Amino acid sequence: MRTPAAVLCGLGTSLPEHSVSNSRLIAQNHLDSDDRWILERTGIAARRLADSRTSTGDLARAAGRAALESAAELAGAPLRPDIVLLATTTPDHRCPATAPEVAHGLGLDGVPALDVSAACAGFVYATACAQALITAGLYERPLVIGAETYSTTLIDPHDRDTAILFGDGAGAVLIRTGTPDEPGALIAQDLGSDGGHAGLIQVPAGGSRRPLGTPDTGPHEHCFRMNGRAVYAHAVRRMTDSALNVLKSTGWSPDDVEAFISHQANQRIIDAVGERLGVPPARRHGNLRELGNTAAASIPLALADTATRQLVEPGARTLITGFGGGLAWGAHTLRFPEARPRSRPPHASLPHTDTDTEKAIR
Ligand code: UT7
Repeated sequence: MRTPAAVLCGLGTSLPEHSVSNSRLIAQNHLDSDDRWILERTGIAARRLADSRTSTGDLARAAGRAALESAAELAGAPLRPDIVLLATTTPDHRCPATAPEVAHGLGLDGVPALDVSAACAGFVYATACAQALITAGLYERPLVIGAETYSTTLIDPHDRDTAILFGDGAGAVLIRTGTPDEPGALIAQDLGSDGGHAGLIQVPAGGSRRPLGTPDTGPHEHCFRMNGRAVYAHAVRRMTDSALNVLKSTGWSPDDVEAFISHQANQRIIDAVGERLGVPPARRHGNLRELGNTAAASIPLALADTATRQLVEPGARTLITGFGGGLAWGAHTLRFPEARPRSRPPHASLPHTDTDTEKAIR
């Protein structure tokens, strides 16, 4: 029997309404920075910031719902997920995981649901797991979501090293069984980690290593810290190497890549990886300028944006790379999906007894 392929068949997004420009962020957080520096050194002009009522789970549920609507439109019939994987570094609670509540909100009670924690590499990790579950014949329709609210949970708004970089949002893909040559088909994957550099990106306190409230915990140690320069160098090297690995196992050369979608952390990093691989600028896609770094959400948001703007033909040879704290990284090759992305604001999904959507996923 032929091994089933995993096929991306629905794309959904959810973004907070509030867009904040560099100059507004600098003014409201009293940052010693300037608009030009941020734009030139990172490629970021603005980011969406969640309000205090919007959780990661709210964004994840709305993006998940949008992905199911997108999949139903393409298939001409509702497709019900049989497992939910939520990639996030900013769950609603430290316990329990956020994915079961997201599944419940989508009318998927009884379906297994778990969080995947791999920081900004979370989406490539979760997608790799979903692909493995399909090819092993264990599940047929994983819903993979990347969702984050860094600005309200991890970021010290007065720390210019990190506050300028991150934005909030969620992106989701529904994956189904299919064949390897159809649009949306995932082909090969490459994953890696190096915990020897765990300290380069870290929230020092609040875990079991240094619980909150212990006497030696400083006031900002529950916030995200990053050694930007060292992370930058790792990001370029690890994503380039991972991309070369996955291209090799796919049997493609960098010249074959028609669309390149990288984790949206810094335009200089994306361009450095693209240059090292030999993928020309016109084939590099993303929305870093408008959304900043949305961590585990950045790749599905960039994928959906590229599809919405119809910049890439369905079926085109596509390369995805991710990188983040851990350190953790990964890459996928795939055929660009055919699904038309749908988007939902985070609160439009409340209350969860929205009958239209519940009908759509049964
Ligand atoms: O998503 C997870 C993975 N994360 C990443 O991949 C992020 C990787 N790192 C980066 O994107 C970059 O390292 C940053 C954007 C964080 C920093 O850019 P950089 O070009 O590496 O800056 P730098 O740290 O080397 O600093 C260069 C200069 C310094 O001034 P001097 O020493 O040259 O006078 C900094 O003090 O820029 C200064 N600087 C700033 N100036 C204005 C650093 N941050 C800022 C700022 N505004 N926000």
